[in-house]
Amino acid sequence: MKVTVVGAGNVGATCADVLAHREIANEIVLLDIKEGFAEGKALDIWQTSPINLYDSRTVGSTNDYSKTADSDVVVITSGLPRKPGMSRDDLIATNAGIVKTVTENVIKYSPNAVIIVVSNPLDVMTYCAFLNAKTDPKKVFGMAGILDTARYRAFLAEELNVSPKDIQAVLMGGHGDTMVPLPRYTTVGGIPVTEMIGEEKLNEIIERTKFGGGEIVKLLGTSAWYAPGAAAAQMVEAIVRDQRRVFPVCAWLQGEYGMNDIYLGVPVILGKNGIEKIIELDLNADERKLLEESAVAVKGVMDVLDNMTANA
Ligand code: NAI
Ligand code: 2OP
Repeated sequence: MKVTVVGAGNVGATCADVLAHREIANEIVLLDIKEGFAEGKALDIWQTSPINLYDSRTVGSTNDYSKTADSDVVVITSGLPRKPGMSRDDLIATNAGIVKTVTENVIKYSPNAVIIVVSNPLDVMTYCAFLNAKTDPKKVFGMAGILDTARYRAFLAEELNVSPKDIQAVLMGGHGDTMVPLPRYTTVGGIPVTEMIGEEKLNEIIERTKFGGGEIVKLLGTSAWYAPGAAAAQMVEAIVRDQRRVFPVCAWLQGEYGMNDIYLGVPVILGKNGIEKIIELDLNADERKLLEESAVAVKGVMDVLDNMTANA
């Protein structure tokens, strides 16, 4: 299996490192626009192979897409990250230009690839990749839900003093402050989380999760990379190994949840064809209202992209 990661910065290099280390692909191409940057990162990752005992090969490329030809999966992480004081949406104009060019090049050399978008603002950059890939939307989707649920699960594990492995959760909506964690679908070793934790504490954790990306931006001066890189690699693994894992993914909705023509986080089954199925939960009135509010926020930014494209 061949996997390309575009953008050899913090998230892209971390994703490539996890893919190599866990032998998720036997050939990994890391591509960046900055001269020599991807080659340097790829070489460094490759030199961990005798230490970490794996044989996946990582190679770098400075903007030469011929090296990415016939990739099975492509992860797009190229773009500016958030700086303190910036929202994800502030990144739209710059990152839309980058994602458009990158997607066109990716599709030219790997017309059948499954594309996973990571660049922010996530829901809208995924839409941007879809518009430019001109391919089946089941093969173009975004990574955010695995990261957001990982934050939620980690905070819960810490509060309950249990293994994060035993916390299962689903989270829906856009990758932003309107994301919708769903306590009704959160369990600890099969036990509903509401039986393990008081309402006030749970709400505090939900609020912390919504602003989990911003918490790291404040601490580091740039956005997170270990968890985002690992989350993208986990999606790649589900596809290349046809695992049919159930994950929250930013997917193109055509009637699901009563919504049309929008990229939004929903639970899906991920397998060799990309999104094998979108799972429709029977949301209650409160949950549906939160999801609809999140969709309005995402649609607003999708409209910004549509207007930019129309006026270009
Ligand atoms: P970074 O600045 O460390 O890396 C970005 C890389 O993209 C740089 O090396 C840059 O040279 C490269 N790049 C820029 N234009 C390019 C082009 N046209 N072609 C190829 N490469 C190009 O940033 P970082 O931290 O890796 O974040 C990357 C993106 O991912 C940002 O937009 C960030 O907001 C987003 N992000 C999304 C998350 C999510 O949950 N979806 C989580 C964390 C970050
Ligand atoms: C994150 O959630 C900023 O989207 C990035 O860490």
